[in-house]
Amino acid sequence: MTELDDDPAEELRALTRALRAHAEWQSITGAAGLEPASAELAQSRRGASDDAPNDDPVAQLESSPRRARPDERPSAERAASASDHPTHRGEPKSASRTAEVTSRTLPSPAVTDPVERQRQLDVIQVEVRACVACPLHSTRTQTVFSRGSGGSGLMFVGEGPGADEDEQGLPFVGKAGQLLDKMIEAMGFSCDEVYVANIVKCRPPNNRKPEPSEMAACLPFLERQMAVLNPEVIVALGATAVQGLLGTTEGITRLRGKWKLYKGKTALMPTFHPAYLLRTPSAKREVWTDLQAVLRQMGRSLPPKRA
Ligand code: URA
Repeated sequence: MTELDDDPAEELRALTRALRAHAEWQSITGAAGLEPASAELAQSRRGASDDAPNDDPVAQLESSPRRARPDERPSAERAASASDHPTHRGEPKSASRTAEVTSRTLPSPAVTDPVERQRQLDVIQVEVRACVACPLHSTRTQTVFSRGSGGSGLMFVGEGPGADEDEQGLPFVGKAGQLLDKMIEAMGFSCDEVYVANIVKCRPPNNRKPEPSEMAACLPFLERQMAVLNPEVIVALGATAVQGLLGTTEGITRLRGKWKLYKGKTALMPTFHPAYLLRTPSAKREVWTDLQAVLRQMGRSLPPKRA
């Protein structure tokens, strides 16, 4: 029995949401016919999300052909910043740098036309709005999908919405979000250039950690967002994000700063969550080290220090 079976009013609300979602989906896609209901869709795609991450990032990254992004900087400029790289100067590699050093993969967005990309993301968002795949739907004010275009190839993934995000319908808009924005700007990106999303799209009550079953129900949406965007680098913010994306149970303190591969192909940097940094400002130094590694991986030079 689901809770829908118990409550006819909730069933009617869910049906209305699904009908509205379907109408929106049709108007966005121009499609006729039926899209599977999102709960079923999430269920049916769950099986596809189980790709074990490859433990050998170096081999994986080395074998990936390099593709230029549409917004890639001129190669001479890239080469200049690559030659600044410590290992290019012949210094010893640390374990955490290995993947970054060997990989110069620059994936293009899977969907290169920005209008088409946005259309595909809109389709996913409409399904998310109608989702009742886990109990979190019953306590949400609204779903929280993403912010930013992701045009730079950089994506940040957090845990799940808090009270501010639930109210505004956007990820990372509270205090932790303000710190994340500072981190993004310190890296030399505008907030709109990066894509920000979460493992779960509905707020867990009292800001508790999402349950594994809630993460599993929601992950297919994030996987589809990633499939459209094909980010060059993912920064996983905190233990839940790393666990959700990589399926590992290792703690964030051990994982942070070490390159991993998402689905065997996308460079993923685990680092501390900005909410942790608000409680432990001394850890900002480690996060900045991780973000600098991300910049090097992306062939970007560090932004000049502000006076
Ligand atoms: N923390 C998260 O992990 N995500 C948000 O969107 C906000 C706070």
